[in-house]
Amino acid sequence: MKKTEKKNAPPPFVLVNMAMTADGKIATANRRVHSFSSGRDLEHLYELRATADAVMCGARTVEISRTILGNGSERFRKLRLKRGLARYPLRVIVSGSGSINPRAAIFKKHFSPVIILTTARASKAKLRSLRGIADEVKVCGKHEINFAAALRWLRAKWGVTRLLGEGGGEVNGALFRADLVDELHLTICPKIFGGRRAPTIADGRGFSRLAAADRFRFKSSRRVGDETFFVLTHLI
Ligand SMILES: NC(=O)c1ccc[n+]([C@@H]2O[C@H](COP(=O)([O-])OP(=O)(O)OC[C@H]3O[C@@H](n4cnc5c(N)ncnc54)[C@H](OP(=O)(O)O)[C@@H]3O)[C@@H](O)[C@H]2O)c1
Repeated sequence: MKKTEKKNAPPPFVLVNMAMTADGKIATANRRVHSFSSGRDLEHLYELRATADAVMCGARTVEISRTILGNGSERFRKLRLKRGLARYPLRVIVSGSGSINPRAAIFKKHFSPVIILTTARASKAKLRSLRGIADEVKVCGKHEINFAAALRWLRAKWGVTRLLGEGGGEVNGALFRADLVDELHLTICPKIFGGRRAPTIADGRGFSRLAAADRFRFKSSRRVGDETFFVLTHLI
């Protein structure tokens, strides 16, 4: 990966991959059920990771799912090398207040750099603590992360040309609002979680006008067992 910063780099190509229930939820309202799709869907997640320079997710996802954002298996490490990618994806965590737990599982595995994107809301003490456990902590925004600038920085500083977003709903919502998602991979699972507080694939403020909605075009769908895998591409 390039480590020299280049000005005015375009943002990377961004894919978002999510599994959701038939009622559009990505976890139960109490957040206890966060893994509910098939082994095939998990394989799909690793397949997508093996195409990306970096994988990104929000502080709550890192905490709740205990993900380490790795390759999954040796097969994917080999595939990455064959594709000219680094052995492991760069790991990016989003935490505007710096609330991410320093004891989270992701910090215990040192196979690739961990970058934290945060804002000026994070206290000096939080920043100090995070700088002790992450490879880089980047402040990019006053109250909210300026994702356009943050992703351009990831490209310029860390050579990220293809980034996989793995949620959760709040991070995705911000990416959609900033018009940064190029491709959406959705696995629809035939379950209903219900619950008005259950997270969806795009939470946060959302859009309030139809004309402002982020728009996608259907690219493909594939049914495997009871699940359907959709790919949508962004409409320019
Ligand atoms: N089904 C699936 O495919 C799937 C995938 C991923 C996650 N999930 C589930 O989704 C749930 C988590 O989703 P979530 O929406 O609650 O949390 P999340 O998006 O993972 O993380 C939210 C946190 O990210 C930071 N953040 C997000 N947007 C920001 C912005 N624009 N500016 C600054 N900081 C920002 C904030 O951190 P601070 O509080 O530190 O400021 C916020 O509290 C979990 O239950 C997880 O298991 C499901």
